[in-house]
Order: sequence, then C-alpha cells, then structure tokens
Amino acid sequence: MPNRPASPSPAVPSALDLRRRPRRNRRSEWMRRLVRETRVGADDLIWPIFLNEGERAREPVASMPGVDRLSIAAAVGAAQEAVALGIPALALFPNTPPDLRDEDGSEALNPDNLICRAVRAIKAAVPEIGIITDVALDPYTSHGHDGLLRGGRIVNDATVAVLAEQARIQAEAGADIIAPSDMMDGRVGAIRDVLDAAGHEDVSIMAYTAKYASAFYGPFRDAVGSAATLAGDKKTYQMDFCNGDEAMIEAELDLAEGADMIMVKPGLPYLDILNRLKTAYGVPTFAYQVSGEYAMLQRAAAEGLIDGERAMIETLTAFKRAGADGILTYFAPVMARRLKENG
Ligand code: PBG
Repeated sequence: MPNRPASPSPAVPSALDLRRRPRRNRRSEWMRRLVRETRVGADDLIWPIFLNEGERAREPVASMPGVDRLSIAAAVGAAQEAVALGIPALALFPNTPPDLRDEDGSEALNPDNLICRAVRAIKAAVPEIGIITDVALDPYTSHGHDGLLRGGRIVNDATVAVLAEQARIQAEAGADIIAPSDMMDGRVGAIRDVLDAAGHEDVSIMAYTAKYASAFYGPFRDAVGSAATLAGDKKTYQMDFCNGDEAMIEAELDLAEGADMIMVKPGLPYLDILNRLKTAYGVPTFAYQVSGEYAMLQRAAAEGLIDGERAMIETLTAFKRAGADGILTYFAPVMARRLKENG
C-alpha cells in the first residue's frame, strides 16, 4: 500500500490501573449485601385485585397466570392476607356484568356498584388496609372507553364531571386513595374540589400522571371484560409512547391540581420517565407493572425460558432503583410471601 501514512500504534497502557477494583465489593454474598443500594420491601407493594359479581370465590383470568377475579368475600380474604404479608394497600378493579354496561357507563355512579360494596366490606372487616379505587369509565361503558363517547369522540369536560362524581361515591364508600386512570385533562382538580366539598379532604389522589397508550394492557382488558368491547384505541387521551417531555407537563398539571402522588404506567419500558419525574418533582412516585408485563414474565417462566422468581425480584428492584416509592404489581402477594420467608 504505497503513500499511506503509517497508522499510529494503538495506545497500549503501560500498566492496567488496578488500584480500584470494583469487583472487590462483589466478591461474596455478605459483601454484596453490605454495599447493596436498593431493596424492595413489602411496604413498597400495592396489590391490584379484580372483582367479580356473585358468590363464586375465584375465577382465573386466562391471560394472567396466577391471577383470579375475586368475589367480594374472597377480596376480604385477600385484604386479610395482604395485612398478614405487610402489603400496605390494595387497588380494586371491577369486572362489571355485561348487562350493567351502557353507553355512558352509568353503573360507575351507582353507590351500590361492585366496587363500592367491596370497599365497604373490606373496610368493615380489615380497617387497617389501604384501599385504592380506580376512577375511569372503561369497566362500565359498552364501548370500553374511559370517557363519554359523543359523535365518535371522547369528550373531555363532560367526562370529568362524571369522574368527579364517581370519585365522590367511592370516597363515600370508604376509599382511601382515588386513582384516576382515565387521562382526561383537568380531572385531578375537579376530583379534588368535589371531594373537598363533600367533606373528604383526607382522601388522597394518586394520579395516573404518565399513562401511555400501550400494547401492554391487553390482559387487563380481558380481566375487566373491556377487551371484547373496546372500539378503536385510546390514543386521543392516553400518551404517545414517543414522548417524554409531555410526562413533565402532565406531572406539573396533576400536582398543581392537587395530586398527592403520581404514577407512571406501564412500568419497565418507562423507567426513564419514572426517573425524570422523581428527580424533577420529588413527590411520592409510583410505577405500575402492568398486566402485559406480568403475563410476559409468567409465560416465559412457565416455558422455562427465564427463572420467574429471579425475574420478578429483578424487575421490582429496577423500579425502586429508578426512583419508585412503590409499585403496583400483580406479583405483590408472591413477592411479599417471598420476603417474609427469606427476609
Ligand atoms: C383503564 C385502566 C387500564 C389499566 C388500569 N386502568 C387499561 C386501559 O387503559 O385500557 C391497565 C392495567 C394493566 O394493564 O395492568 N382505566
């Protein structure tokens, strides 16, 4: 090769710099325990539970191995189990019977609906558990959307008025934390005002702040029976997964409107969002490891592709490392049991 300048010889270090050896801190289990930064405890877990009408105690959710829809009596049992395991709170979701679903989701405003009866039963039997209720219309609408559908559009402001009323009847039933998952604009403030006006100033709001239009909700929609009914998608109200700055705007609004806690959902693909929000706002920030994430892990474990328990612990720890103060996860009872057994 004529006329080609000789390439400089690669910079070979005269000696490896090994005064610092990060491996020293990893050399044994006791050492790893000593330097460990993040631990998941039962206190970090919120257990989402699906409710069924009727006496049948439990009915498996086919798409979520290990998860059942529970009768109210079985949900009371789950609340007792949660307390025994040290889990602070349950998040309740109803599978509304099809004949009670209508265009406007009116069953959401029935003070004797499945959710309200479950809240009263759990509160009466297990007063020491925290109860989080979901505010959105999708388990109640015949079209499966979270809001009111008018002329092919989900209308914002009229929906917000209904959601605030839904929150009020849930608080009336005894809910401790109202969790709006609908993604309408202005709903946190409207809910706060209605709760306060009704004397529920101690009821908290956990806002689904950064809730993305996601492929990972499929099994949940199966569990609450909205998969079959959902017309179209939720992209005009749930966030575009291409966007991160938008989550900051949502958080700013939710906090200004009175949210006590914020949440990011789904979980694992959105750890960057979780970390940004926690770093920027420093408020109690939660992650939701959603149904599709749970189903993937369970299926892969069942196929022998991964070690399910290790993957569960690793993912839950990742949420905490990224900044989560707590995690909504269908693994909650399994994880808490493991923590209890193995410390
Ligand atoms: C709807 C709602 C959804 C979830 C919680 N509340 C699904 C959706 O937005 O379609 C998903 C939870 C999960 O997938 O585990 N208001």
